[in-house]
Amino acid sequence: MNQWPGLIEAYRDFLPVTTETPVCTLFEGNTPLIPSKIIGPALGIDLYFKYEGLNPTGSFKDRGMTMAISMAKGEGARSVICASTGNTSASAAAYAASNGLKCVVVIPKGRIAAGKLAQAIAEQALVLAVDGNFDEALEIVRYLTDKYPIKLVNSINPYRLEGQKTAAFEIVDQLGEAPDILAIPVGNAGNISAYWMGFCEYLEKGRSTKRPSMWGFQAAGSAPIVLGHKVDNPETIASAIRIGNPVRWRQAEDAVSESNGLIEMVTDDEILKSYEDLAGEGIFAEPASAASVAGVSKFVHQRGVKNGAKVVCVLTGHGLKDPDAVGLMANKVQPVKATNEAVEELLDAGGILA
Ligand code: F0G
Repeated sequence: MNQWPGLIEAYRDFLPVTTETPVCTLFEGNTPLIPSKIIGPALGIDLYFKYEGLNPTGSFKDRGMTMAISMAKGEGARSVICASTGNTSASAAAYAASNGLKCVVVIPKGRIAAGKLAQAIAEQALVLAVDGNFDEALEIVRYLTDKYPIKLVNSINPYRLEGQKTAAFEIVDQLGEAPDILAIPVGNAGNISAYWMGFCEYLEKGRSTKRPSMWGFQAAGSAPIVLGHKVDNPETIASAIRIGNPVRWRQAEDAVSESNGLIEMVTDDEILKSYEDLAGEGIFAEPASAASVAGVSKFVHQRGVKNGAKVVCVLTGHGLKDPDAVGLMANKVQPVKATNEAVEELLDAGGILA
């Protein structure tokens, strides 16, 4: 078979796997780096989108999950568990199902996007909705995994970061060099930490000659790292990053300071504006993903980034994950009578028939 082998085989030399490790893959990774046609030129930068929504379950979580599930399986685990704002649960459920493991997902009740919940249910996970937020769900999962032989597959699990760092490798392989800036949404802060590991390793191994500045963005209502304290009731339209006490907090701060980067917040309005701007480039990403673009749009000039700088925004999840978010956009569906004349009249009024 002549196709992309999945990221464990593609980057085996960089991963803590052995010949004994069962490779549990859904052929994740190898996602496109899409040059921006509109947003980048308007900002005067050379902007690219790393479109992680094109992974098998529609988010970057698959990179971490192929590693976490392979290692769990190799260690003889029979079941896995995670807390989730949605994407981790969808990914864990899919990788567990296809490898004969039971999967339990603990989610904040009523607070995860419809597409993500549908995935976890379709993949036969045991879905538990707690009356609480993500941080509380994660506490429960940590308690259970300390006590019972069930594998935790949140990004506290170091193998998750090992898998996710391969996205940094791909960016360098695709660009031929590390970018000047890597912009990324921050929730539990695992992904920003993983990218930084990846860029550092590639530099050490001589695959690049520099590392990017890491720019992390939290949503204004859920910005513990920016504010410097936990947030008890995190709020944002970007439900994926609605997290008040990130597990990889310290590591994210280190990545930002070592890379001379920044961690800042963007408002829900700024996120939705960038969500629309991305759609205008033909790219449908979920609201949390748009936080990276919102951050770049807001800070590129403020921080004096030079014209033509190479900037990569990580688009972490597919827009189809969160169909309800579209309802918040300005253009809505127009009802029309099922006649030629009625449709013609509407198009004419919109200047489309001219
Ligand atoms: N973007 C999306 C689409 C996410 O689903 C997440 C995290 C992030 C960004 C932030 O990544 O947590 O590594 O800083 N989602 C987790 C979940 C928490 O449960 O799916 P992070």
